[in-house]
Amino acid sequence: MNQKERIEQLFETGILPKEEMRALIEERDEESSEELFVKARIRKEENFGKDIYLRGLIEFSSYCRNDCFYCGLRRSNTKAQRYHLSKEDILTCARQGYALGFRTIVLQSGEDLSYSDEEIADIVRSIKKEMPETAVTLSIGEKTYEQYLLYYKAGADRYLLRHETADPVHYAKLHPSDLSFENRKRCLYDLKKIGYQVGAGMMVEAPFQTLDNLVEDLFFLKELQPHMIGTGPFIAHKDTPFKDMPSGGSELTIFLLGILRLMFPKVLLPATTALGTIDPYGREKGIMAGANVIMPNLSPKNVRGKYMLYDGKISTGEEAAESIEKIRKRMEAIGCHVKNVRGDAPGMGPENRQ
Ligand code: 5AD
Repeated sequence: MNQKERIEQLFETGILPKEEMRALIEERDEESSEELFVKARIRKEENFGKDIYLRGLIEFSSYCRNDCFYCGLRRSNTKAQRYHLSKEDILTCARQGYALGFRTIVLQSGEDLSYSDEEIADIVRSIKKEMPETAVTLSIGEKTYEQYLLYYKAGADRYLLRHETADPVHYAKLHPSDLSFENRKRCLYDLKKIGYQVGAGMMVEAPFQTLDNLVEDLFFLKELQPHMIGTGPFIAHKDTPFKDMPSGGSELTIFLLGILRLMFPKVLLPATTALGTIDPYGREKGIMAGANVIMPNLSPKNVRGKYMLYDGKISTGEEAAESIEKIRKRMEAIGCHVKNVRGDAPGMGPENRQ
């Protein structure tokens, strides 16, 4: 098959044989990228029109018990600035987000064991009670089935847990031996079983990643059928073991967004902060390639610079929640409209909760 035929088949059927998927990525060029993006926009517009959904991201703790080799929040990074927010601080952020029009709040943190499960549940409950039309997304790492169930019963709607890489051997090159792809996968399937809208995703151009790894990621996602897929380029952090590893660019991530949109027409696909960090127009390009979600930062200003997953992470410019009008204008400039709605995965709204 040539590129045109591959894109046509992916568009029509949502899938390609593995070797053709690999070739599609390997042989990408300007012409085939544009063809892919045109098709991706068709699929996106069939399902979401020109709407862009917003998620207000509250990074509520930079403490982490894990030691992932790529991440600036890893526990061995003694230079990392640690903070955690109180329930009141978190509620204040959520209220500000609500006033700005956000109807999804994402609570993200390192794996900080100083919050008990009951405290997490209480924070979720309080947000849902005060702002019942708001969806709450958790992104707090690997937990047991019982913990996930507790948060769900407290009202959490969605959960983000990137799979990072679907190849166990590659996984072991990015993580210390106490973390495994097997457990990551278990978590993702537990979350789905409980009834969460689940987000997975990989880091693109992570150290040691091969093209075959990326193809495996796509096929793993096909099997998992997540409701959301967060993917962005790896960016080196100066105080991690991967400090000298080359950072990814925006081009491959954007091409993959196009493929993901054709594989998953209804998926919620953010143009991520990492993409916006590595390329000043990364988010627009991501949207033009099939993405339909943006996640501005709602964390208190005084802690924003401390949630440093990677070097240069943007946090004070137009990605910040208070610049919401600028974000709206930038989206209008590419023909899209930011909507102040929950933006659930199709068929997964509050009326469908178990
Ligand atoms: N570069 C890019 N993304 C990173 N993440 C963590 N560290 C980095 C990095 N150095 C991503 C991971 C994680 C998400 C919260 O941030 O994919 O799941």
